[in-house]
Amino acid sequence: MQSGLPSADAIRDEGAACPDHAALEEFRLKWLGKKGEVTALMKTLGPLAPELRAERGAAINAVKDAAVTAFEARRAELDRQAEDAALQAGWVDVTAPARGRPLGKLHPITVLLEEVIDHFTGLGFEVASGPEIEDEFHNFDALNIPKDHPARDVWDTFYTDRREIPRTHTSSVQIRAMQTRKPPIRVISPGRVFRNETIDATHHASFNQVEGLLVDRHVTVAHLKHTLETLVQKLMGRKLETRFRPAFYPFVEPGLDLDVQCVFCGGVGCSICKGSGYIELIPGGLVHPKVLASCGLDPDEWQGFAFGMGFDRMVMMRYGIDDIRRLYDGRLQLVRQF
Ligand code: DAH
Repeated sequence: MQSGLPSADAIRDEGAACPDHAALEEFRLKWLGKKGEVTALMKTLGPLAPELRAERGAAINAVKDAAVTAFEARRAELDRQAEDAALQAGWVDVTAPARGRPLGKLHPITVLLEEVIDHFTGLGFEVASGPEIEDEFHNFDALNIPKDHPARDVWDTFYTDRREIPRTHTSSVQIRAMQTRKPPIRVISPGRVFRNETIDATHHASFNQVEGLLVDRHVTVAHLKHTLETLVQKLMGRKLETRFRPAFYPFVEPGLDLDVQCVFCGGVGCSICKGSGYIELIPGGLVHPKVLASCGLDPDEWQGFAFGMGFDRMVMMRYGIDDIRRLYDGRLQLVRQF
């Protein structure tokens, strides 16, 4: 010790002896804190004569440096020890096989849609698309649904401020297909449609349809029937009983509904098919002569069939999903697979 000051060695030893970060913090406060030794020593400089003050000031600075060095050295050591301990605790076995990540899955709508597209492209159909925001001509007029005709009320239509229509059905794409192609025409058009519906287990304000259109010479209901029956068989993986019932849609004549044997009860009758043994699945018919004409096709030369399947219902039947909201709320659970 020189002139009553602690030696650098003593300070270094004291720092090195701190067992942990808490003790080291005490060491720092003791030497370097505001009320610490170095500050106290500095205060003793005031009364000294200038030449003595310089010399003693330098010696006090050496004490301070020793404390800072001791503190930093020990802190680095303690930090390293802490890191080593953390590594030990979470020891990584680099030879272990990698942990699997949960895989994303395709949405059932996508899965079935890909099958439908595959089926129809195999039959020579192409996939056509149209805008989701339509005009009245494509959504209604050209489909033989005139303005102010009560048939328009069937589609609970949304309108935008500019009287555009979030399309109520994919039938609008029929019109676009006939306007842009020359027969023979074979297209399907999957897509979203929008209706001002109160949402419940069987209704949604936005859902999916797949429209189909074939225009050629000598087309009959038999072609439509066969096309739809093979589609159902393919999608359901087995032959199901089907039947056609007459139905009215302004853009087809005759209009028909294809019913399929209820997959829930096997045709015996249950609450889902309301005791009938059948589920109404695909509406369609022969393209109305007025619709052909509105697209510039001569109805005496060309005929066609069209259908528009509510795609969500198909998905629900296939996967046993009993509430349409499940398809859109991101909490999809498969109940049963048919
Ligand atoms: N567009 C009709 C709807 O949304 C479904 C439909 C019925 C489409 C008969 C057709 C058809 O192509 O021929 O209710």
